[in-house]
Amino acid sequence: MNLRVAVLLFYIFQCIHGQPDNLGFISIDCGMAANFTYQDPVTNIQYVSDYGFIAPGENHNISSDYMKPSLAKGYFSLRFFPHGVRNCYTMRSLVMGNRYLVRASFYYGNYDGLNKPPVFDLYLGTNYWHEVNFGDSRSVNWMDIIVVSPADYLQVCLVNKGSGTPFISGLDLRPLETTLYPAVNASQSLALINSNRFHLGPTGNSIIRYPSDPHDRIWSTYDAIPNSTVISTTAVIQNNLSGIYDVPSSVMQNAATVINSSRIDFSWDPSDPSADVSSKYFFVFYFAELQNVPSNAVRQFDIIINNKTQNTELCRPMFLFVNYLSSIVHGMSNYNVSLVSAKSATLPPILNAMEIYLVKPITEVATDLGDAKAMMAIQETFGVIKNWMGDPCTPKAFIWRGLKCSYPAGDPSNITALNLSSFQLVGAISTNFGDLKALQYLDLSRNNLSGPIPDFLGQISSLILLDLSSNNLSGPIPDSLLQKSRNGSLSLRVGDNANICGNSTACISGQKKVNGTLLAEIIIPILATIALFIILFLLLRQVLKRKAKKRATHHEDESVLLENREFSYRELKHITDNFSQEIGKGGFGPVFLGYLENGNSVAVKVRSESSSQGGREFLAEAQHLTRIHHKNLVSLVGYCQDRNHLALVYEYMPEGDLQDKLRVDHSLGSNVFRLPLMLHKVLNICTSRVNQH
Ligand SMILES: *[C@@H]1O[C@H](CO)[C@@H](O)[C@H](O)[C@H]1NC(C)=O
Ligand SMILES: *[C@@H]1O[C@H](CO)[C@@H](O)[C@H](O)[C@H]1NC(C)=O
Ligand SMILES: *[C@@H]1O[C@H](CO)[C@@H](O)[C@H](O)[C@H]1NC(C)=O
Ligand SMILES: *[C@@H]1O[C@H](CO)[C@@H](O)[C@H](O)[C@H]1NC(C)=O
Ligand SMILES: *[C@@H]1O[C@H](CO)[C@@H](O)[C@H](O)[C@H]1NC(C)=O
Ligand SMILES: *[C@@H]1O[C@H](CO)[C@@H](O)[C@H](O)[C@H]1NC(C)=O
Ligand SMILES: *[C@@H]1O[C@H](CO)[C@@H](O)[C@H](O)[C@H]1NC(C)=O
Ligand SMILES: *[C@@H]1O[C@H](CO)[C@@H](O)[C@H](O)[C@H]1NC(C)=O
Ligand SMILES: *[C@@H]1O[C@H](CO)[C@@H](O)[C@H](O)[C@H]1NC(C)=O
Ligand SMILES: *[C@@H]1O[C@H](CO)[C@@H](O)[C@H](O)[C@H]1NC(C)=O
Ligand SMILES: *[C@@H]1O[C@H](CO)[C@@H](O)[C@H](O)[C@H]1NC(C)=O
Ligand SMILES: *[C@@H]1O[C@H](CO)[C@@H](O)[C@H](O)[C@H]1NC(C)=O
Repeated sequence: MNLRVAVLLFYIFQCIHGQPDNLGFISIDCGMAANFTYQDPVTNIQYVSDYGFIAPGENHNISSDYMKPSLAKGYFSLRFFPHGVRNCYTMRSLVMGNRYLVRASFYYGNYDGLNKPPVFDLYLGTNYWHEVNFGDSRSVNWMDIIVVSPADYLQVCLVNKGSGTPFISGLDLRPLETTLYPAVNASQSLALINSNRFHLGPTGNSIIRYPSDPHDRIWSTYDAIPNSTVISTTAVIQNNLSGIYDVPSSVMQNAATVINSSRIDFSWDPSDPSADVSSKYFFVFYFAELQNVPSNAVRQFDIIINNKTQNTELCRPMFLFVNYLSSIVHGMSNYNVSLVSAKSATLPPILNAMEIYLVKPITEVATDLGDAKAMMAIQETFGVIKNWMGDPCTPKAFIWRGLKCSYPAGDPSNITALNLSSFQLVGAISTNFGDLKALQYLDLSRNNLSGPIPDFLGQISSLILLDLSSNNLSGPIPDSLLQKSRNGSLSLRVGDNANICGNSTACISGQKKVNGTLLAEIIIPILATIALFIILFLLLRQVLKRKAKKRATHHEDESVLLENREFSYRELKHITDNFSQEIGKGGFGPVFLGYLENGNSVAVKVRSESSSQGGREFLAEAQHLTRIHHKNLVSLVGYCQDRNHLALVYEYMPEGDLQDKLRVDHSLGSNVFRLPLMLHKVLNICTSRVNQH
């Protein structure tokens, strides 16, 4: 695999998962064909299609007469959203609590032939970001917002407000070190509207961004300072290592100053229809001395915005070193900025760069993170589209279909009800349902869910209704759910499923559920289960017996006793016709005549109640007898050890001297303590089994 293929695959992987690249950047060229990537020739940033970041929407190219070679490739295509009020991109694999710069860019380019740019709203997660509104089909528009990410993902949503179809051309995310922009925190973000980030270099189309600025901030020239002149250097301008803005050297290498004047004056207008007197702006001014001025020369000045001096100390730029002054101002529709030389100054003021952000308080509290992530995972698992985008509960106007949420003041919302009835869900019940800790109602009825009913549903303590009816579920109902259902804390509906049975102890396969009450659904299977349980128990006992037999055989290979047939007492009764024909008496007790199923006659030697010999000796004798295998001796057919009943079953030879043989039995009986140790083990197994009965 060559490097290009590897790189391509890497980006394909990245775009599928909506994750940052190796710089931590996410760079999306919206509307590009799925899986397509390219490297921007100016910035060398690798752009990917929006496949994997958003599902809805349609791709389009701008009109061909708007495709100028000077236009960045990123603006050639766009994604528009003819359906749904809110459509959201999700950027994943971020670090919760870290700062990010997010940039959305727009170029209408009359893509729809209507020659009427739409007006719509932009949200970052649950919080209103800004209105997208440009009167001109040819204006390129981008907006930055610097935020602390409240989760390990960030969402950018476009909201249709009835003034045209929302669209987007590009979406970028850049990580910022946590020390940068300390004004940004969990309750406040900074939005850059109208490209208000400037360097004071020579006018023209001189944009500074990545890789000069490692954070890919876009710095454009400011040419609105009257009567100013530019001073420049090629020397590197240092940042304080613990600086909080990390301004690139190239941005600082030019400065505006004035000649034969002691002040720089300019006015700044937010040019923002949504701005009002309550809008707050965050100004940052950057200064660095670029001229190796004589030691007796002094450059010192104040910064005054609307007659208010912003600094407590005079600004005194340092040689080739970045200084800054930041301030939040508000209350005006127009801002007059003046840099005014101090009395002692011999040189005029200078200004190297500035940024002006709209301060955005974060007012909407998003859904509880655990709930939100569970819902996103559920959406991914089942491929639900509906209007499931952005935050599940907030803003309230955009709550996901099928959800109900709690909205505690100032606290995250929790999902309290989830009705996915007839949502065409296919597959197993996802574990993510169990992560909805405040869920009270869960209706999954009328889907095609299969597999077992998972136990974690019983662990949702707040759950008061669970409807799983009309699915394809099978197996037992977990005890946790049954218990809640019995004690009345949970209304449980499981009717019309493939194969559900009463409880975890047993499950009858193939039992078709009848529609009806919980009673019918639960009680019938339980009764059936009990019956099955008994059968299973008997089978199990038999299997255990056999296993133990096998185990014993394994212990004592020579033992043939246990290879002999084991008779039950009832069988003996049958064989001997209820012990009707006594043919003799041995040391243990009476001997009866009997007939096996094949007609062979047998002698059944039964241990009498009064016999002094215990089961141990009895079996030992049998064992020993079978080991002798003497031609002249009768051979053992089987034995019985049914509760207290012990018996040995021999081949019966009417013509032989039974009495002799029985005497042999008797004499051998006393030799029991000379039997090999191995045999004792076998007997222990046997007798312990006897004791169990
Ligand atoms: C994009 O790539 C994924 C994974 O390789 C693939 O499943 C999908 O079909 C591709 N999409 C297009 C439109 O080629
Ligand atoms: C946009 O133009 C490119 C070529 O520049 C083309 O490959 C692509 O299919 C076009 N997209 C649409 C949605 O027409
Ligand atoms: C965020 O910063 C603002 C202004 O500095 C401050 O008033 C607010 O308390 C801060 N919020 C948090 C959560 O730190
Ligand atoms: C610019 O300088 C000229 C003369 O040099 C002066 O007439 C004009 O008022 C100045 N403009 C401003 C805005 O200061
Ligand atoms: C660098 O920044 C730190 C903290 O903001 C400050 O204490 C220090 O004086 C600065 N150094 C210079 C040379 O400005
Ligand atoms: C500045 O003032 C000096 C004398 O005061 C004059 O010679 C020069 O032309 C002035 N420069 C400008 C740009 O006005
Ligand atoms: C800014 O200056 C202009 C004239 O230079 C003046 O008309 C306007 O009132 C000033 N605005 C404020 C807010 O001071
Ligand atoms: C600013 O000060 C100037 C003169 O000092 C005055 O004319 C102007 O009205 C003041 N502007 C405001 C907004 O106070
Ligand atoms: C919401 O859920 C969280 C845990 O996920 C919990 O701590 C919080 O108490 C819940 N809030 C409500 C109102 O139930
Ligand atoms: C869920 O929604 C369906 C209609 O889509 C409705 O019939 C059903 O009653 C709802 N379930 C609950 C628990 O409210
Ligand atoms: C339900 O899903 C199974 C696959 O899990 C599929 O074979 C079956 O056709 C589906 N039934 C319906 C009614 O969609
Ligand atoms: C499950 O059924 C068995 C009998 O089959 C019963 O002993 C047990 O109590 C049942 N468990 C529950 C939780 O109902």
